[in-house]
Amino acid sequence: MATYPLTRLRRTRRTDWSRRLVRENTLTRDDLIWTIVLSDGAEKRAPVPSMPGVDRVNLDEIVSEAKRARDLGIPAIALFPHVNPKFKDAKASEALNSKGLVPEAVRAVKAAVPEIGIIVDVALDPYTDHGHDGLMEGETIVNDPTVEVLAESAIILAEAGADIVAPSDMMDGRVGAIRDALETANHTDVMIMSYAAKYASGFYGPYRDAIGTASALKGDKRTYQMDPANSDEALREVEQDILEGADMVMVKPGMPYLDIIRRIKDEFAMPTYAFQVSGEYAMMMAAAQNGWLDEKRVILESLMSFKRAGCDGVLTYFAPKAAEWLQD
Ligand code: PBG
Repeated sequence: MATYPLTRLRRTRRTDWSRRLVRENTLTRDDLIWTIVLSDGAEKRAPVPSMPGVDRVNLDEIVSEAKRARDLGIPAIALFPHVNPKFKDAKASEALNSKGLVPEAVRAVKAAVPEIGIIVDVALDPYTDHGHDGLMEGETIVNDPTVEVLAESAIILAEAGADIVAPSDMMDGRVGAIRDALETANHTDVMIMSYAAKYASGFYGPYRDAIGTASALKGDKRTYQMDPANSDEALREVEQDILEGADMVMVKPGMPYLDIIRRIKDEFAMPTYAFQVSGEYAMMMAAAQNGWLDEKRVILESLMSFKRAGCDGVLTYFAPKAAEWLQD
């Protein structure tokens, strides 16, 4: 490359048409996965205070949300349940209820809006009375017994019609166990999107309010979620999940971990996703509502940053808003 003045990098930036010609990344509706909080409550919609603009929706309302997603051109939705505490126990029994909130929602959406992809979280935290993603023996989250329950629950979700199961628990070996169980149960086409590199993050705070696990959670999740200081370890996590049969891998949270996304994409060239989590949503919305940030600009900029980092798509609470802005 020549140097200044033969090279003037501003030349290509001068006009809109030439900026479009040299643009390296694009953001479209195809990149969006809408994360939706489901509730087993009687109210159709209930706002989540720490996530302005996000409502929990009940079974009556989830079908219209799915239709809205379809009409906006969003390819897939991801469901997260807020479960009444009376259904929670130490064994996460409700995770194995084939007539539970999530399986019922999946069936309803599948029947009414068959053209949209349905992603479901496989994790025990909505169903345990202690708020952890695994079963406990004393103070310990036990790996292998948890994996057994996760695999069983994945089958129930696949049976209900889920297209993608997304284990978000960070137990070792869960992707392999779920893949084996799916094969055995003849659900060979169900995809696994693994929360491959999921960090023990403070940015999940509003989500734990949203699904009602915040007050119950004893301690933290650092014995299974990753240390925010680590990067090489993320590659080992992802490699395991790919070898165990994951179709897609995810990094979570999103914006503080763009470096991890880039390394994973470069190393494995797999379909790679970021979860722009509740705390990221809350931060941007709080600033926008105070007039401190331009809402549309920063949301679209944040979504583009995931594409630039190497993502094939983003799980985001901003999906419906962004999809509206991205209509042709
Ligand atoms: C747990 C789970 C979490 C989220 C999705 N599934 C948080 C946690 O580990 O406590 C976070 C989502 C968000 O913050 O938006 N299985």
